[in-house]
Amino acid sequence: MTDTKKSPQGEWSSHSAFIMAATGSAVGLGNIWKFPYITGENGGGAFVLVYLLCVALIGIPIMMSETLMGRRGRHNPVTTMESLTAEAKADEHWHYLGWMGIIAGILILSYYSVIAGWASAYVLKAFTGSFFDADAAAVKQLFADFIASPVQLAFWHTAFMLATMWIVKQGVNNGLEKALRWLMPSLFVLLILLVGYAMTTPSYFQGLHFLFTPDFSKLTGNSILTAMGQAFFSLGIGMGAVMVYGAYLPKKISITETVVVVSIADTVVALLSGIIIFPIVFSNGLQPDSGPGLIFETLPIAFGSMIGGWLFGILFFVMLVLAALSSSVALIEPAVAWLIETRGFNREKASLYAGSVTWLIGFASIFSFNSWSGFKIFGQTLFELLDYVTANLMLPIGGFAIAMFAGWIMVRGHSEQELDLPNPLTYQIWQLLIKYLAPAAVFLVFLDVVGVL
Ligand code: PHE
Repeated sequence: MTDTKKSPQGEWSSHSAFIMAATGSAVGLGNIWKFPYITGENGGGAFVLVYLLCVALIGIPIMMSETLMGRRGRHNPVTTMESLTAEAKADEHWHYLGWMGIIAGILILSYYSVIAGWASAYVLKAFTGSFFDADAAAVKQLFADFIASPVQLAFWHTAFMLATMWIVKQGVNNGLEKALRWLMPSLFVLLILLVGYAMTTPSYFQGLHFLFTPDFSKLTGNSILTAMGQAFFSLGIGMGAVMVYGAYLPKKISITETVVVVSIADTVVALLSGIIIFPIVFSNGLQPDSGPGLIFETLPIAFGSMIGGWLFGILFFVMLVLAALSSSVALIEPAVAWLIETRGFNREKASLYAGSVTWLIGFASIFSFNSWSGFKIFGQTLFELLDYVTANLMLPIGGFAIAMFAGWIMVRGHSEQELDLPNPLTYQIWQLLIKYLAPAAVFLVFLDVVGVL
C-alpha cells in the first residue's frame, strides 16, 4: 500500500538531511538578493509586514500540504498528481498542476542562474581586490560595466548551469546534503558578522526604521501581490520542488515540524539580509529602489572598508553561490524526476536535457540587462516579465491549487495520517487555513491587482 511505497529516486538518509535539503532549497538568492531589492522598491515596512503575514498564514500551511502530497504520491509532480487524483477519484485535469510546476521551475531557474552568475563573478572581483576602498560611485560603476557585457553574463550563467547539472546528475540526496550541513551555519555566522558591520554605519537605525516601520500608504495592489509572490518564491513553494523533495521523505518524519523550522530559517535569513543592506544604502546616499543590482551596489562598499573585508567578501559571495546552487537543484528537480520516471532517461541525460533548455532560455534575461534593455512587454523587460509571471502569478496559482487539493479533494483520513499532528485541534486549524484562508487570501490579492477590489 501507499504506506510502504518509496520514491524511485531513493530517500533522504535522515530527518536532518531532509531539513538541510529543504532549507537549502528555500534559502537562496530569494532571501539575500531579491528580498532587499523588492523591499526597497515597495517602500519598506508595510511590504515586509505583508510578506511576513503571507509566510505565516499562507506559506506554512501550503508548504505542509505540498510536502504531504509529495510524500503520498512519491513521484515527480505530474505522476504524483495523477496518483493522488486516482486515489481521491477526482478530475484528472489536476495533473496540469504538476505541469505548471515543472514549467515554472525551468523559467525561474533560467533567470535565477543569470543572477547566480553575477554572484559567481563577484567572487572573482572580491578576490582580485576590486572593492578595495571603493566608494558608492565606484561600486555602482563596476556593476554597470559588468552587466553591460552579455559575454561576461553568458560566461557566468553557463558556468552556474554546468555546476547545477553536475550536482543534479549525482542525485539530490547524494553529497549535496553533506555540503549543506556546514554551508547553512557558516552563511548564518557571516550574516551576523555583516550585521555587526551595519551597526557601525551612521544610518543603522534609519535602515531598521525603513524595514520595520510600516507606512501603509506605500502599499498598492501590486506591492501586496509582490509580497505574497515573494513568500512563495522564498519558501520555494507552489511549483512542485517541495513536492518532489517530499517524495523522498521517509514516513516517520514529522512534516509540520520540518516545515516550521525551514520557514523560520528562511525568514530569518531574509530579514538579516535587509538589516545588513539598508543601513549601507542610507549611509552611502544610495536609493533603496535601485533594483536588482542593490546587493551588488552596496555590499562591496562594506567589504572594501571593513577589517578583513577582502576575506569576508570572498567568503560571502562563495556562500551566496552555494546557497543559490542548493536552490537551483530544487528548481530543476521536478523536470528531471519527470524525465526519469516517465521518459526512461537516466539521471545524467535528464539533467543534460532539462539543464540545456533552461540555459538557452536564460539568454532572454542576459540580454534584457544590456542589448535588449529597451525591449519591453507591458512596460517590463524580459527578465522582469519572467520574474513577474513566475513568482507573482504561477507560484501563487500553484499554491492556490495545492491548498484546494489538499483541503477539498484529498480524502481527509489521508492528509490526517500524513500530517500526524499531535492533537485534533491543530489539524482543525490547518484545515481551516488550507480550505478557506489561504485560497481566499490568494484570490483576494489577485482581485485587488486587477482592480476589482
Ligand atoms: N527559494 C529559493 C530562493 O529563495 C528559490 C526557489 C523557488 C527554490 C522555487 C525552489 C523553488 O532563492
